[in-house]
Order: sequence, then C-alpha cells, then structure tokens
Amino acid sequence: MKNARTYIENNKDRFLNELIELLKIPSISADSAYKNDVIKTAEAVKESLIKAGCDTVEICETPGYPIVFGEKIIDKNLPTVLVYGHYDVQPPDPLDLWDSPPFEPVIKNTELHPEGAIFARGSCDDKGQMYMHVKAMEYMTETNQLPCNVKFMIEGEEEVGSESLGWFVERNREKLANDVILISDTGMIANDTPSITTGLRGLSYVEVAVTGPNRDLHSGLYGGAVANPINILTKMIASLHDENNHITIPGFYDAVEELSAAERAKMAEAPFSREAYEKALDIDSIYGEEGYTTNERNSIRPTLDVNGIWGGYIGEGAKTVIASQAFAKISMRLVPHQDWEHITELFQKHFESIAPKGVTVQVTPHHGGQAYVTPIDSVGYKAAEKAYTETFGKTPIPQRSGGSIPIVALFEKELKSKTILMGFGLDSDAIHSPNEHFGIWNYLKGIETIPYFYHYFTEMNT
Ligand code: BES
Ligand code: MN
Ligand code: MN
Repeated sequence: MKNARTYIENNKDRFLNELIELLKIPSISADSAYKNDVIKTAEAVKESLIKAGCDTVEICETPGYPIVFGEKIIDKNLPTVLVYGHYDVQPPDPLDLWDSPPFEPVIKNTELHPEGAIFARGSCDDKGQMYMHVKAMEYMTETNQLPCNVKFMIEGEEEVGSESLGWFVERNREKLANDVILISDTGMIANDTPSITTGLRGLSYVEVAVTGPNRDLHSGLYGGAVANPINILTKMIASLHDENNHITIPGFYDAVEELSAAERAKMAEAPFSREAYEKALDIDSIYGEEGYTTNERNSIRPTLDVNGIWGGYIGEGAKTVIASQAFAKISMRLVPHQDWEHITELFQKHFESIAPKGVTVQVTPHHGGQAYVTPIDSVGYKAAEKAYTETFGKTPIPQRSGGSIPIVALFEKELKSKTILMGFGLDSDAIHSPNEHFGIWNYLKGIETIPYFYHYFTEMNT
C-alpha cells in the first residue's frame, strides 16, 4: 500500500472545502424545523459517495430520517468493511456562546491545533470524521488500491437515539453483511498519543415531571403551606447521590463488573494530567465517585446526570410564584452488563417511590442503548493498531470512552460482527458544545490512516 500523503497534500484544499460545504447545512435531527436540511444533507452524502467511487448508492427511506447506503463489491471472496457514521448534528444552542455562527464554518488556530481547526457544528461529531472515510475511499479507488469490499451506512438520527437505524438493520441483515464495522465517531487521547476506543457506555435517558397544585400560586399566600414542585424536584434529584457520589437507586450497581486490579493498573498507564484537566475546564478541582480515578469515573463507572431542569419564573426581575410543575431531563451512562431497559425501570420505580405526599411524579423514558466493549485481540483491532502505528509512528493505546453510540451493541447482536472505533477527535474539540471544532491535522491524519486499516484487515483475513 502506497502512503496517501502525497495524494492528500495535492487535494487538501478540496478535501477541506468539500467538508465545509457539508457543514453549512444545518442537519439538526432533534428539531423538526430543520427537516429539509437533514434530508438535503443525506442527498449531499449520497453524491459524495458516488464521486468517491461507490458502485451503488441509495437513499433508504425509514420511518424517520433516511439512511444513505453505498457499496463497492470488488470480489465476493474478499472481506467486507462496513463503515458507519452519522450526518445529523446536535442543536447548536446556546447560540450566543459561539464565537462564529455554527453553520458558517471558519478555520482558526488553537493551542492544540496549531495547524488550524474547522469551527462548526458537526465538524468533529460526526460530519468531519464521517467524511474522512469518504475521502479515504476516494483515495483508494482513484489510485486502484481498494483491497476489499466496502459498504457505507450513514444515518441521520444518531443524535436522537438511532431509532430508525435499528429498524433498518433488523430488516437488512443480508444487505449489511460484513466482516468488520468501522466507525470514526469517538476521540483519541492527543495528537502525539494515538488511542483506539475499546468501549462505549450505555445510556438511559428519561424526563421527569413533578406536579403540585393545579395552578401557579402566589408564593406569599401559599408558600410554606403546599409542596413546591421545584423544591421537591431538586431535593429528589439531590438524593440520587450519596455523600461518596454513589448512585442511591436500589439495584443500580448490581450488574456492574468490578475490574481487576491488573486491569485498573493497565488503564492507569494512559497519560493523564489532573492539572491540565482542571485548567482546561477552569475548575479548581475534579469531582466524582469516591474510590475511582477520573479516567475510571468517565469510562468504566456508571453515572447519573441532570441535563436540564426547568420550571417557574426565569424572566427578568423577580416574580413571586410557586410553580405548579417542575421538570428535569436526566441521563444515566451505563457500563457493560447493565441493561438499559432494566435500569430505566429501576429509576422509574425509585423516583416515584421517593416522591412525598403533596406532589405527583411522572417519569417518561426517552431512549437508551447498551454499553459496548471490543476485544483487543480481534483481527479488526490488530489491523487498526498497525494502521495507527504506521501513520503516527507509535502504538495506539486502547481506551474505553465515556460516550455512547447505542447502535453499536445492536450491530453486534444483529450483524454478528465486531466494531472498531477509530476516532480522531480530541475531548477538547467541544462536541455538543458551542465552538465545536475539528483539527485539520486530525482530519487529514484520519484520511491517511483509514486506508491502512483496509490494507491490514484484508491482509490478515486472506
Ligand atoms: N459521537 C458521539 C459519541 C461519542 C463521542 C463517543 C466521543 C465517544 C467519544 C455521539 O454522536 C453522541 O453524541 N452520542 C450520544 C448518545 C446519543 C443516543 C444521543 C451521547 O453520547 O450523548
Ligand atoms: Mn457522533
Ligand atoms: Mn454526538
């Protein structure tokens, strides 16, 4: 396999400009006002796959947003790589915290990206990372180096739970048959410390409503004499963690596996600077579950976090009022063996049970998914390891991530193949936050590394 560096160098500006065009379309799956833009993005992805050399590309309709499916089958006896990615993005708000508009990409240098980074919603999660695969495909077909079969499945509902993708996978097992699934929708430790993601956390996402009196009340006339839903909700939420930051829901930890001392020692070898971590976030101290390191807290341990909370008066000035209702959105990140549906039930039962007299509580489950761990002795992992070693000059470190891509566990169940998570973003790239960005170096490094994965995976399989 020839090194792609010259090809990338010669086409770098075009690679950037094409991504910038894709980033201009606000494909926000959570907000129905952007429906046409989401669909337009699917069309753009389809066009890009045709140009990159796929033989067939279709827009597959689903009950929700379409899935772009493309393939190039060169020889039935060769292995098949299935690339998964998503073309939808998170809502950009709060808008006023962006230094430049989220859908008008700009290139700026940062401390960690001295060669420039593209600032736009979706630049890293996941349009930029997904598009690396399209450009790697272009390179391999243009230079006659595609060593195996390839299928692309790019969806538009990842950020809202991938419901239609589950539907699609269950109905298209044959079409999606593959030997390995390849995804770039995670991160790595640092540009000089490559890593391969070996685990994703599961997720249970719920919304809760606490209802008190049948109308908003004067807080003087009624205050102290009736249950205030906001007071009650915050008290209930606070009780979900104990003084050691353990979660108090009965049965919550039952299925959680304790890692052996040896495994934890191995994890601790990954470079981590507490000081740099605190400084990057402007916090005076880290915080979390007693007895675990930061890297453990955000990967092998389950968590419970309020993602939003509202109710009552939040306008200018003061309004003396006891709101009739209070609400919160809560996510629980789960680890292997914790079943998300079971955890959702445990949450619901517990949350209802701790509601005092004077209010009613309603728990509405949103979506969820199982955690995933990929072995490091699989052919896919070894091929990825060799690919990184080739382009970074260093062996990548296996690392479990705290984020979730719920569909990955389903891929394994339905398609019986392992997923390899080759992420090229950095945690500091601000995915889901204002000023999301993706390093140009990372983008191009991804395009350079991916073809080696194909090469080694094919070599090791034939
Ligand atoms: N790409 C992320 C997940 C991710 C990011 C995993 C970085 C590991 C490292 C994905 O788009 C995402 O945001 N997933 C959601 C879950 C989904 C059901 C909305 C998440 O993790 O919050
Ligand atoms: Mn993503
Ligand atoms: Mn995301």
